[in-house]
Amino acid sequence: STDTSRNVLISRPEPSVALLTLNRPKALNALNSALFGELNAALEEADEDGDIGAIVLTGSDKAFAAGADIKEMKDKQFADAYKSNFLVNWTRMSSIRKPIIGAVSGYALGGGCELALMCDILLASPTATFGQPEIKLGVIPGAGGTQRLTRIIGKARTMELVLTGRNFTADEAERWGVVSRIVREGSVVDEAVKVASRIAGFGRVSVQAGKEAVNVAFETTLEQGLKYERRLFHSLFATADQKEGMAAFTEKRNAQFKGE
Ligand code: HXC
Repeated sequence: STDTSRNVLISRPEPSVALLTLNRPKALNALNSALFGELNAALEEADEDGDIGAIVLTGSDKAFAAGADIKEMKDKQFADAYKSNFLVNWTRMSSIRKPIIGAVSGYALGGGCELALMCDILLASPTATFGQPEIKLGVIPGAGGTQRLTRIIGKARTMELVLTGRNFTADEAERWGVVSRIVREGSVVDEAVKVASRIAGFGRVSVQAGKEAVNVAFETTLEQGLKYERRLFHSLFATADQKEGMAAFTEKRNAQFKGE
C-alpha cells in the first residue's frame, strides 16, 4: 500500500508474515499518538491472525523513527501527562505473543530507539544510528530506554548514552548485543522477512513458548527462570507439533507443523 494518509502501512510479503512500515516520512517517523493507535491495532490484529507466524517492523531508509513527536509533546503539563498516564500506549508492543523482528535503517532515536528495543530480534543496516538524546531536550527516556538498555548493554554504557545524549553506531549496537546482525545496505527488510518467514514455519506453540521463556530471563531470578523454562519444556510434550517434529527427524523428512 502507498496510502500516505496512514501512519503505519501493513503488507504481507509472505502469507505467514505481516510487515508493518512506519510512514510519517516528512517527520522522520516521529512517533505521535495517532501513529501508536494504528501501530497497536496492527500489532494486535497480526497477533490474532492465525495465518501470521511473525511480524516485521520497519521504518524508512532514512529513519526507523526519530523519536517521540517533539511538536506534539512540547506543551504538555505534568498534571495532564500524569493523569492520562502519557506513554502507556507506547509499550503495548511488549505484550504481543508472536515474534517481532525489527529492521532498522537510519535514525532510531529516543522513543524510536526504545521501540526498537521492544522488538524480539533486531537487524540493522550499516548506517543505522541509535541514541537516547532526551537529555538534550530536558527530559529522560520514557518508554523503557533506561531499563531495557541497562539490561542489554550494562550500566556504564547506558549511563554515558543517557547522560550525554550521544548517538551510537550500528557497529557499537552489534558489538554490545543490541542488534543480532548488521546486514548489507538496502537488504534489512528482506533479511528480516526471511527471519520472520523461517520462524513462521515452526510450531506456533513452541515459538510462543520460546519467546515467553527468553523474556522471563529479564523478569526473574535464574532459579525461577530455569524452573519456568523446564515447565514450559515439559508442556510442549502435550503438543502434536512435538510428536510431528520428532517423528519427522526419525523418518528423515521435513516436519509439517500445525501449531497444535
Ligand atoms: C518531531 C521531528 C522529529 C521529532 C525529526 N522531526 N525528528 N519532528 N519530533 N522527534 C522533523 C523535523 O522537525 C523536520 O520537520 C523533519 O522531521 C526532518 O528533520 P530534520 O531535522 O530537518 O532532518 P536532519 O537534518 O536530517 O536531522 C535528522 C535528526 C533530527 C538528527 C534525526 O531531525 C533530530 O535531531 N530529531 C530529533 C531527535 C530527537 O531528539 N529524538 C528524541 C525525541 S524525545 P520540519 O517540518 O521541521 O522541517 C523522545 C522522548 C521519548 O523520543 C520518551 C518516551 C517515548
